[in-house]
Amino acid sequence: MQAMHTARETTEKGWTRVDLFEYQARDLFAKHGVPVLAGEVIDTPEAARAVTERLGGKSVVKAQVKVGGRGKAGGVKLAATPDEAVARATDILGMDIKGHTVHKVMIAETAPEIAEEYYVSYLLDRTNRTFLAMASVQGGVEIEVVAEENPDALAKVPVNANEGVSIEKAREIVAQAKFPAEVAEQVAEIMVTLWDTFIKEDALLVEVNPLAKVADGRVIALDGKVSLDENAEFRQPDHEALEDKAAANPLEAAAKAKNLNYVKLDGEVGIIGNGAGLVMSTLDVVAYAGEKHSNVKPANFLDIGGGASAEVMANGLEIILGDPDVKSVFVNVFGGITACDEVANGIVQALELLKSKGEDVTKPLVVRLDGNNAELGRKILSDANHPLVQRVDTMDGAADKAAELAAAAAK
Ligand SMILES: Nc1ncnc2c1ncn2[C@@H]1O[C@H](COP(=O)(O)OP(=O)(O)O)[C@@H](O)[C@H]1O
Ligand SMILES: [Mg+2]
Repeated sequence: MQAMHTARETTEKGWTRVDLFEYQARDLFAKHGVPVLAGEVIDTPEAARAVTERLGGKSVVKAQVKVGGRGKAGGVKLAATPDEAVARATDILGMDIKGHTVHKVMIAETAPEIAEEYYVSYLLDRTNRTFLAMASVQGGVEIEVVAEENPDALAKVPVNANEGVSIEKAREIVAQAKFPAEVAEQVAEIMVTLWDTFIKEDALLVEVNPLAKVADGRVIALDGKVSLDENAEFRQPDHEALEDKAAANPLEAAAKAKNLNYVKLDGEVGIIGNGAGLVMSTLDVVAYAGEKHSNVKPANFLDIGGGASAEVMANGLEIILGDPDVKSVFVNVFGGITACDEVANGIVQALELLKSKGEDVTKPLVVRLDGNNAELGRKILSDANHPLVQRVDTMDGAADKAAELAAAAAK
């Protein structure tokens, strides 16, 4: 399986994660009572002036990119005057940080002098099937480094989903991480509000690094990272607005609008199948077959699900045929509740539907039907005798044919 890297990450298990920018994480923290500093996001340098004036004449200019280590990369700068804030925003906007272009900066209130930097987070620990609290008094730096070099400095405390984090549980986490006595109660209270953020927002991760102790004795979240569980969007109507639509692939955006489970990949063979497991193995089989045919690879993941109606098939084909990288399409269907004859009719009708919409279908389709009513489905395809559709009845054979056609068309 090749890696899929998109703004939203879809995994084999079908869950999808929405990573937020720091300013969005800050807003969610504020909503649930985690102490944060004031901040506003802007996308032009000049806008830094008014915000900095509102903040009392000085500010911190912070690159908004979804990658850590912005400070070290020069993406976090102090500005002592509104003019300086404009200058720093000019430097930072457009900067490249680890392959991420900076389109927005947050103009943040300047923290009083920082005395100590801590780390705290909650996450879903899939391996151990539990929630996990993590905390360390050695924050500020990347936590992976602490975990590697000084594992004892990172406390890991499982959290029972039914019990959650009460103030007592929070104190237990704080004690395990050995927070200094003078901040322990403040940090425990923050752990409770951070747990609220995690649960009430249906997050998969909430992380504060650094959680800073500042000169006046307060403990404040200076940087935040939040990943939301997209599968909870049905009960989180506000979350859709947090997705970075601009960063999403346009084909993925179109697929999402049609409720299709689609991920763009970088190969040449378009893939449609029913059921996530079948589609995953189709990707592998096509990648393997491609090794013999100019190294062509799968162009996408598309699962049309159980009920592959003509309309769903047409929507799927429309997205895939609209991808200029696609040179051939492999439709791999295993008939189950929706039998192969229905799917075959779906394919035939889908091609007619696309033609009637004036879409020029010119790319070859290789169709493999197996399972419930396979014979009937194959007959329907043969009878339709569509010039672009080829039937191959084994998965390996069909993958090989699709790869061969893609390689020929790519020449
Ligand atoms: N509002 C702020 N006021 C003062 N210092 C800050 C502020 N925000 C961040 N910093 C400092 O900059 C460092 C890096 O910022 P951070 O937001 O953690 O970015 P990153 O983790 O991407 O490097 C922090 O560890 C902190 O020392
Ligand atoms: Mg940080």
